Amino acid sequence: MSSRFVAGFRIEDAMSAAATLGGQGLGVTLDSLGENVSRPAQARQSAQLYHWLLDAIPPSKLNANVSLKLTQMGMDLGADLATEIVGDLVRHAVAADTFVRVDMEGTAYTQATIDLVRKLHAVPENRGHVGIVIQAYLRRSAGDIATLLQDGIRIRLCKGAYSEPPDLAFPEKKDVDDNFVALTKTLLKSGIYHGIATHDEAMIRATKEFAEAERIDRASFEFQMLYGVRRDLQRKLVQDGYKVRVYVPFGDEWYPYFMRRLAERPANVIFLAKNFFRN
Ligand code: FDA
Repeated sequence: MSSRFVAGFRIEDAMSAAATLGGQGLGVTLDSLGENVSRPAQARQSAQLYHWLLDAIPPSKLNANVSLKLTQMGMDLGADLATEIVGDLVRHAVAADTFVRVDMEGTAYTQATIDLVRKLHAVPENRGHVGIVIQAYLRRSAGDIATLLQDGIRIRLCKGAYSEPPDLAFPEKKDVDDNFVALTKTLLKSGIYHGIATHDEAMIRATKEFAEAERIDRASFEFQMLYGVRRDLQRKLVQDGYKVRVYVPFGDEWYPYFMRRLAERPANVIFLAKNFFRN
């Protein structure tokens, strides 16, 4: 079941999935799975995998970049360590003419993630080569987006995948969706290239309608979806002339990622159970 959401264990598996997706007109962001490392050596080892990925991207000629998590880069051991490690990766991405997206984790890391990305983006050579993720379920997100847009930082907007208390995150789906649409409008009007990350057809429709009404070029933003989720929709959007990037996770530390995918869609658990008992 995990192989439905994870491209494989090795860099070669991820690059091969990226090539297949590239052949269908899809861009990719490659994610070497892992989070919450507890030793500096583990953080540096995780970063090394990303350096290899960044080496592999230019010769592949694919529309590819990378996504990483700060807790995989040593954030729990100190912001200085994570800043040093991610700073090296962003420098490598500049040389490889690609981009590092810093994923957003639980609320314990929100402010620290924003601070780190702003710090790295403020280095002139890094401008446009490092971006962030903002979660529409958080009450603070409109304010965070305003700050990040002032810096010209590229944002991926998603709904949010962690379990958060109601004083920090909207508990009702309707409020999350309303905020997602409102934030999408702000992003599309900013003139900066952002990613609208969702499989929710209502969110996608609202994005398309707003872009159409405001005469915003389809090439000035991208939709983003997860590997193995709504492949039909990914292809349809490409056919209709929209840009789509698929998040391609790989590696052996797939368990927490997989559990978040199950949690956001109960039907996946039923599917899993049926297959388990069939085997
Ligand atoms: P919603 O959950 O309302 O689902 C809408 C429909 O999409 C469902 O009815 C179903 O058809 C389909 N669908 C959604 N999830 C599915 C699944 N797991 N399996 C099968 N079908 C599914 N979160 C975060 O906190 N930090 C991050 O950095 C990121 N990064 C990120 C990158 C990208 C490219 C994407 C697409 C998503 C993320 N996320 C994330 C996850 C995000 O926050 C959210 O949990 C999921 O995208 C599900 O939300 P939807 O917007 O798809 O809507």
